[in-house]
Amino acid sequence: MASPSPRLAAAMDGIAEAMDRQFDLLLPLPDDPRRRLFEAMRHATIGGGKRLRPLLVTASCALFHVDPDAAMRVATAIECIHVYSLVHDDLPAMDDDDLRRGKPTVHKAFDEATAILAGDSLHALAFELLADEATHSDPFVRCELVMDLARASGPDGMAGGQMMDLEAEHQTYDLQTVTRLQQLKTGALIAFCIEAGAIMGRLPPEGRAPLRGYARDIGLAFQIADDILDVEGSEAVAGKALGKDAEQGKATFLSILGVERAKLQARALVDQAIAHLGHFGHEADLLRDIARFTIERDK
Ligand code: IPE
Ligand code: IPE
Ligand code: MG
Ligand code: MG
Ligand code: MG
Repeated sequence: MASPSPRLAAAMDGIAEAMDRQFDLLLPLPDDPRRRLFEAMRHATIGGGKRLRPLLVTASCALFHVDPDAAMRVATAIECIHVYSLVHDDLPAMDDDDLRRGKPTVHKAFDEATAILAGDSLHALAFELLADEATHSDPFVRCELVMDLARASGPDGMAGGQMMDLEAEHQTYDLQTVTRLQQLKTGALIAFCIEAGAIMGRLPPEGRAPLRGYARDIGLAFQIADDILDVEGSEAVAGKALGKDAEQGKATFLSILGVERAKLQARALVDQAIAHLGHFGHEADLLRDIARFTIERDK
């Protein structure tokens, strides 16, 4: 397993610290009966996780010289949606997991009702962050961010992919269907991260194709790597239970292609993602490092 480049390692440390700080500021504990909800939200958002999505947002925003504070708001919004999706994904009604980011899952540390509400609240908070004037002075830009994140999170994005994933327990999917499942479940939110830089930087839509190609390829590679880790990874390093996909009889890239072909496919996707960045210079080096990291990671 290759370790991240020094540039990527520094960027990952930086975004981890920034996210902890953002959520600490956003979620002060109230002195009223909502306290437990805020404690659960803090448990889910502070400490742990790779923070890949916020890093993609800040890296994409940096390409277009977006104000770093504004970029950080968008980064926090996508992490809210991602964490909400994890809190709900771990619930007994879904994957029924006890461990997440090396800690007890929210419904274990608190209870199921609190976990559902913590997820709901993070979902709402994401859109509140994007819609606020502090994110961008132009309401059209804010509206585009809200629209894009809503699409990526809902039935044509993450939630739709999660439904397909649940159905995968008692259906046989072909490669095309698994690819669609992964694109919705994981790919859509990752695509938003990259698109967010283009939206904030007001890149005209016709100039966005290479970045969209990059995002699609790393999104798929990232989920193939997640499926490979589920089979080959270490629970202690990943901080979550593994071996669940086969146990639950889920159709994944691995169940269809086998480990070796899935690895080749993931590698080809990363090469293709980097090729999409061909007309960028060194300013896109962090995005290139992130592409490699999506499959070289051990957690
Ligand atoms: C896990 O995402 C869920 C998937 C979409 C595969 P990550 O692997 O990015 O989880 P964290 O944020 O590092 O905990
Ligand atoms: C979860 O996918 C994806 C989302 C939360 C949208 P998985 O169920 O494979 O994620 P892990 O393996 O529990 O992190
Ligand atoms: Mg799941
Ligand atoms: Mg899961
Ligand atoms: Mg998984």
